[in-house]
Parts: sequence; structure tokens; C-alpha cells
Amino acid sequence: PAHFIVRGSILHFLQDPAQYPDAEAFEYLDDGYLWLADGFVQGTGHWQQLGDIPAAARDHATWADHSGHLILPGLIDTHMHYVQAGMIGSFGCRLLDWLNDYTFPAEAAFADPEVARVTAKFVIDRLLAHGTTTASVFGSVHPQSVDAFMAEADRRGLRMLCGKAMMDRYCPPEVRDTAEQSGRDSADLISRWHGKGRLRYTVTPRFAPTSTPEQLTIAGELYRSKPDLHVQSHLAENDKEVAWVAELFPQQRDYLDVYEHFGLTGPRTIYGHCIHLTGREQAAMAATGTAAAFCPTSNLFLGSGMFDYQSVAGAGVRVGLATDVGGGTSLSMIRTLAEAYKVSQARHHPLSPMRGWYLATLGGARALYLDQFIGNFASGREGDFIVLKLDATPELAFRMERAHTLAERLFAMTTLGDERCVVATYILGQRAH
Ligand code: GUN
Ligand code: FE
Repeated sequence: PAHFIVRGSILHFLQDPAQYPDAEAFEYLDDGYLWLADGFVQGTGHWQQLGDIPAAARDHATWADHSGHLILPGLIDTHMHYVQAGMIGSFGCRLLDWLNDYTFPAEAAFADPEVARVTAKFVIDRLLAHGTTTASVFGSVHPQSVDAFMAEADRRGLRMLCGKAMMDRYCPPEVRDTAEQSGRDSADLISRWHGKGRLRYTVTPRFAPTSTPEQLTIAGELYRSKPDLHVQSHLAENDKEVAWVAELFPQQRDYLDVYEHFGLTGPRTIYGHCIHLTGREQAAMAATGTAAAFCPTSNLFLGSGMFDYQSVAGAGVRVGLATDVGGGTSLSMIRTLAEAYKVSQARHHPLSPMRGWYLATLGGARALYLDQFIGNFASGREGDFIVLKLDATPELAFRMERAHTLAERLFAMTTLGDERCVVATYILGQRAH
């Protein structure tokens, strides 16, 4: 095998959340190594103990020296819309008007496969530049938008999730499908992409209001049609949306119950926002293994509200962090972390520095049920990792001179940092940025 040994300050979070319910058990090696073979993690250790790596591996290894820089598992964005990259920062509307005035017209352009190809390449380049190595991604209603994203992700060997938006009502004809057509298109995409390389398909009913009961039924059937399919959608983001769902689905107890009714909850299902949840919904999400994506920049930008991390995570729900571009305002998971902290402060339960970085790595992997593959440097994990420079800007350098503990330095980077801190991104041990 091809051995690869990287030197730097290694930081990652440990696996067993039952053993570490505070999710803050981590390994930090100030001067450490990360050892990969054929792109998979073999182990980590102190640089002084390099001798623990068998000589046969060491003698034939290639090396990368990132001493003085932080080495972390690749960041995981658990909810984003690649087809909205060109409409970030659309002014003045809250969710339902924002969708009608800006989002649906922007997504209509993805009927053109060339628009999809150019945008997919741009977004994947920029995700890697921001240190994001895995994302759960919404396409537009057009299956060609998913073809473009999956082809580009596959070409680069990425572990990515993507699905075609299913939406057969309450949207313009340019972005509307039908229940039957969405079923056929999704099934075709599943057969083309699900399980190809490291790709997985995500069944993507946009959200309850834009799907008929017939379409939601088909979405539930698709989710169960093959092993390891995922589901993504939106839940309890905005007060008017929640009221509308109650009107549209009068038989259901609450918003989550719509998804439960159509078999769209369970392992590998994740819902964006989850701001306005009842205690029943939180408990049902926890009981079924349904995950929540915390999208702080989007929730603030669209005036949707403040996700209650303490309450949702405390109820036992798996929570990941997400940009939700283009409702979100940055592709940067570092900036997203800074906003997550501010929201948690406003809710009087500040996210600790370590918990924040847990959420951006292993927490995201757990929310997507991918933690056997990615999220930390346990032996056998896929070697997607990033190299962060803590003093990438003058403000950071000035601040770092006065920061002494690991938590203090990490938190200063959370607050002041962005993609300028990402000096390298590696995919399965190969430099990709
Ligand atoms: N709800 C339904 N569609 C969307 C979307 O594209 N973005 C956000 N933030 N919420 C949604
Ligand atoms: Fe979204």
C-alpha cells in the first residue's frame, strides 16, 4: 500500500457518544502525526513516537510537513443548496416570499445542463477551498442538476450526498414536477449515482407545502427502496410556514407528523432548521433517529428564528451544522460556527469551543449516519482532512499571541477565522486544495 505520513497539530473527536455524552472527548497531539495507507487512516500519534509505525511502512512513505498548523477531519455541511450559490444575499424577504421572489426563479435556470455543470464545478471548488469535504446537497427539481453535481463530485472522489428536489405544487411550472415524474426521475438518479464511488443519493422532497400527499408517499417508498438511501427536507423553519403546513395537513398532529405519516423519518433522514418544534416533535425525532441541521446564518438572514441547540440536542436528537446556502450567507463552516455560537449565547446556553468543532466534524458525520466512514481519525476512516493556519490574518495573529489554551485558540479562530485559515484540503490522502 501507499503510505502517507502528515506532521502537524492533530485534533479530532472520539467516537463513542454513549461513553462520552458531552461529546467533548477529543485527542489533541500538539506535535503529532496522521498516518494513512491508500487514503485510509491507520493511526495518529506523537511525533516522538513515530517509531510505533512499522519500519516497512515508514521506509516507503511519502510525507507532508504541516508543523505548526492544525490538522482536523474535513468539515461537514449537513444541509446546503448548490443551485442557490448564485443568489446568496437576496434582500428583504422572509422564507415564503424569498422562495417565490428569488429562489424558484434562480433554480429555474438549472433546466440548462450547462448552467448546472458550471455551477457544480464552482461550488465543489469552493467547498474544498472552505475545508468542507462532505455535504448534504439539494439540487433543483431538474434531474440534470443532480447529474452535474454527482459527476463533478465523483470525478474528485468525494463523499457527497445529493438529491433532486421533489416539488409538485405551490411553485411555478418551471420548477414543478408531478408525483409520478419525480418518482421516475429520482429512481433513475438512484440507479445512476447511489453507491458510485463514495456518493449516496438523498431523496429530497423540498418541504411539506410543495409536495402533494401522493408525492410524499412516493418519497417514502423511494427511501425504503434500496439500502443506505438518505432523506433531506425542511422542518419548522418559519412561523408562517408552520401555520401553512397545519392548514394543508389538518389530520397531522404537527409538522413532523406529516413526515412521520409518509415514512420519511428514521436513520439517514435530516431536516433543515427545526426552529419551531414542540416537545413531542423533539422526542419523536430522538426516538426515530431523525436528525436536525442547525443553519444559523440562514436562520438569521431570513429572520426565521433561533435554533434551540440546548433543547434539541438535550432531547437526544442528532444535530449537525449547516450553511443552508443560499438562505445561508457563507460557504464557510468556520463562519457558520461563529454564528452558531452567537445564537446559542442569545439563548443563554453558549456552545463551548470544543462542542462547536465537534459539530462541524464528528457531529455532522453522526447526523448523516456516515460516522463509520468520516468525521474523525479512528483507524479505517477515510482520509479526508484539512490543514488550518491559526494566524492566517493580522487580527488572528495578534489575537493568537495572547491565547494560551487550545480551547482559547480554537475559539479565537471560530470568531475571527474563515476560509483564509484553510491552507490545504486533502481527499483520501490526496491534496485537493
Ligand atoms: N424551505 C423550502 N425550500 C427552502 C429553501 O430552499 N431554503 C430554505 N432556507 N428553506 C426552504
Ligand atoms: Fe435549505
